[in-house]
Amino acid sequence: MQQVPACDSTERYGRVTRILHWIMAILLAWQFTSALAHFLAEDSALDELLWGTHKAVGFLLMLLIVIRVLWALLNLRHRPPAISAAARVGHVVLYLLMLLVPLVALMRQYGSGREFSPFGIPLMPGFDESLKIKWMTDLGSNFHSLLGYVLLVLALGHIAFALKHYFAGERQITDRMLK
Ligand code: HEM
Ligand code: HEM
Repeated sequence: MQQVPACDSTERYGRVTRILHWIMAILLAWQFTSALAHFLAEDSALDELLWGTHKAVGFLLMLLIVIRVLWALLNLRHRPPAISAAARVGHVVLYLLMLLVPLVALMRQYGSGREFSPFGIPLMPGFDESLKIKWMTDLGSNFHSLLGYVLLVLALGHIAFALKHYFAGERQITDRMLK
């Protein structure tokens, strides 16, 4: 990765895009493990270990996706072209979901009136919970986990396509992110 320039080019993704891609892939894997452990095995040792990190890691993912969107927009005119219209749409939908999933959760958190200090940062001071903002809590409760699972399915599809290209010898596609 040392010789890879910071910015993207039409031949391959640059260092910043790659770092954002792989850090977010790791954090999303952590986030989905915590969500699935909570759903499938509430109160198990794994759930106890991971669930306490879900909101803070979700907040970190929110920050990273904002940076990633801005970086993608800055590099828009000199990125590797999508290999098909479906791939382009797929990446845009992944971006949209990576934004919406934590956003609606943070809105629910704000609307609930409960204070929220991810990593000790006093982000939401909280307010009288009897004044909670119902449309915000409803939005989060109706869409956060639903869109979260849609993101999980699409991310798994994306990984499957990447592996398919790699093992079918179409390395010119995967090399744009790997080499
Ligand atoms: C990209 C980031 C995030 C992803 C991928 C994600 C994913 C998920 C998923 C799949 C579930 C469903 C778990 C179940 O079925 O029990 C869930 C639940 C939950 N998430 Fe997140 N989450 C993210 C960020 C956040 C953030 C930022 C917060 C709060 C600040 C949050 C709070 C919660 C809460 C309270 C639940 C349980 C209630 C519910 O099912 O809606 N999440 N999350
Ligand atoms: C083992 C996990 C993963 C592998 C092997 C992988 C592989 C790749 C490869 C090879 C590319 C370049 C494709 C091209 O140029 O057409 C790419 C791009 C991309 N990947 Fe992944 N990926 C993984 C995980 C993820 C996850 C979890 C997400 C988000 C949910 C994601 C979102 C994206 C996006 C949006 C792009 C377009 C480039 C960008 O804007 O960052 N990837 N991935």
